[in-house]
Amino acid sequence: ASSIDLAVIPGDGIGPEVIAEALKVLEKAVAAEGVELKPTHYELGAEHWLATGETLPDQVLEDLKTRDAILFGAVGAAPGDTRIPSGIIERELLLKLRFSLDHYVNLRPSRLYGTVGSPLANPGTVDFIVVREGTEGPYVGNGGTLREGTPHEVATEVSLNTAHGVERVVRDAFRRASLRERKHVTLVHKHNVLVFAGHLWKRTVEAVAQEFPGVTHDYLHVDAATIFMVTDPSRFDVIVTDNLFGDIITDLAAAITGGIGLAASGNINMDRAAPSMFEPVHGSAPDIAGQGKADPTAAILSAALLLEHLGYAAAAGRIEAAVVADVEKRDGSARTTSAVGDAIAAGL
Ligand code: NAD
Ligand code: IPM
Ligand code: MN
Repeated sequence: ASSIDLAVIPGDGIGPEVIAEALKVLEKAVAAEGVELKPTHYELGAEHWLATGETLPDQVLEDLKTRDAILFGAVGAAPGDTRIPSGIIERELLLKLRFSLDHYVNLRPSRLYGTVGSPLANPGTVDFIVVREGTEGPYVGNGGTLREGTPHEVATEVSLNTAHGVERVVRDAFRRASLRERKHVTLVHKHNVLVFAGHLWKRTVEAVAQEFPGVTHDYLHVDAATIFMVTDPSRFDVIVTDNLFGDIITDLAAAITGGIGLAASGNINMDRAAPSMFEPVHGSAPDIAGQGKADPTAAILSAALLLEHLGYAAAAGRIEAAVVADVEKRDGSARTTSAVGDAIAAGL
């Protein structure tokens, strides 16, 4: 195509700040290939909810489904904000998008660029991807409360795991591993305690592994995985894991590879039955919003993942190269959000 029909959801807090920089870089990167970026902005998020009471109206969801892809900033209010019930936007907008558009591969790459940025003394070569399941697990809202507010209250939160859901994401992880140099998959779960889901995941990995004789695999309980992510992160190549474990370990993965300001993600519908959505791993960062302090690199790298998904691998590679060049020059001195965006755009 000679144009990209892009839905843009900047959201709340630093979301609009980092998305402005991502669009700046994205537009320039595709223009160099004669491709026109046609963005449509959607005003959604906590501020929009406060103004209108809307989270994600049905017509807006239908409209989003017609786009080539979605670039998402971040949503959510400050934890202490009493004007808005906790998590309503996260669940009724962000998770609703991931579920409705069947984003079953939540792809979160972690790479340490050069030597700067890691809090680890000897990180070694860190270059792994987490393939986080995106549509099931404890995220499905399968639970409830009995006798609420009494001393006998019982709250349940039941993790949903289907053979179909687990198999498709595990197969995706093996396929990605088969295209990488080390060709290794690590299943991260907790099957010593989470017996039923754990065994479905383990059996599925054993079965899918038969289809990929060139790919090796091992297993780590999630608690041990957090140890190795700090003590020996270079051991990881492709991690496949459930929705909640994937959420937690990817913030840790971000922290060891230069910080949450660098961590990109894609919520991908690999069947291309609906548009995929690309977003930084971080949230709306109310503590630094409005100050021009947010690092837009995660959003910019998310835009590169978006281009790769749409088949513009060369443009994606040029963005990544410009990011690497910029990150390698960083010396810890403060730069504004737009200064970082300008530098990366100039480096394309
Ligand atoms: P957060 O990721 O917003 O912030 C955690 C810490 O990282 C903060 O100190 C913040 O300043 C810092 N940080 C985050 N992004 C940064 C960036 N680009 N540059 C520099 N520093 C950055 O997580 P939180 O504080 O737990 O959540 C804040 C709100 O965001 C909550 O409402 C939460 O529900 C929501 N949230 C949304 C998403 C999303 O939209 N995908 C993801 C996570 C959290
Ligand atoms: C993320 C976020 C979301 C998640 C929240 C905001 C629902 O933490 O994208 O990592 O848990 O998936
Ligand atoms: Mn998270």
